[in-house]
Amino acid sequence: MKPRYAFEFCDVTSLPGGLRECLYEIMEFCNSGLRSFNGRAAEDALSAAREHGLNTIVEVGAGRAPLTTQLVRTKCIDDLRLVPCDLVPNQEVFRTLQQLHPQTVDPIFTPVDLTQPQPLLRKAVIAFVGVMHHIPFHLRVPIISALHRSGSVVIVLEPLARSWRSMFLASLSLFMGLLLPLFYLSRPGNLRRFVWCWLIPLAPWMFVWDGIVSCLRQWTAQEWRDGLRAAGVDLSTVEISSSLHSTRVCWTATDNSRDTAIVGAR
Ligand SMILES: C[S@@+](CC[C@H](N)C(=O)[O-])C[C@H]1O[C@@H](n2cnc3c(N)ncnc32)[C@H](O)[C@@H]1O
Repeated sequence: MKPRYAFEFCDVTSLPGGLRECLYEIMEFCNSGLRSFNGRAAEDALSAAREHGLNTIVEVGAGRAPLTTQLVRTKCIDDLRLVPCDLVPNQEVFRTLQQLHPQTVDPIFTPVDLTQPQPLLRKAVIAFVGVMHHIPFHLRVPIISALHRSGSVVIVLEPLARSWRSMFLASLSLFMGLLLPLFYLSRPGNLRRFVWCWLIPLAPWMFVWDGIVSCLRQWTAQEWRDGLRAAGVDLSTVEISSSLHSTRVCWTATDNSRDTAIVGAR
């Protein structure tokens, strides 16, 4: 199957806010509720921070910040600084997390675009959960190359893969979208979920489209190896594991402080 780069609804900033929020809630429902994907991502980031003696975990492209949300439920993280950020920061979710955990959660409320220089991504665990497939193919190698000079531990976790089976499973998320209003009944936002999942049921169908496009945008394990090699990463320092429905890539970047920012991505 060839890689393809079509648009995803969750990248369309002109969507009505309530509809956009429903798309992110379906994502959360699938990856934190139905699957324990986000929980495992949080454990992964935490153990990388402990192993490498880093006290900052940056959740890039955080959306509703599922990683930070899982981490604040963990005991003994008072020494950590959790930094959710996104190209389109979810102000409400970030603010609530910060208010509940002011010592630990330190969100960035302004847009953080990975394709632009980002000096903040230094000496931290940088977690990309479901984000790398949003980066256009031609920008991935420059971004990996810049990350590789950041002295950070980089963890890329993708909850989908480029396979027919993963596309089939992604299409089943239609039912998750239709069930969302029932499962999230005790949370604020019932009216918008009722409207966008039942009355005008656009959110479940748009989520299925996003899921299938996300599969087509994924790199295979071999493409990851080729991309990392092209970016100058020593493959012996990289862990790559892929299954029929997910991919994990992790490596420790070198520390070159003269070259900290993500540059050359444009
Ligand atoms: C599929 S969502 C994943 C959200 C969240 N990480 C999760 O797992 O629920 C992808 C996120 O990547 C963000 N994103 C897309 N392009 C980006 C860029 N160039 N820089 C930073 N974030 C970006 C989007 O705004 C979106 O929130």
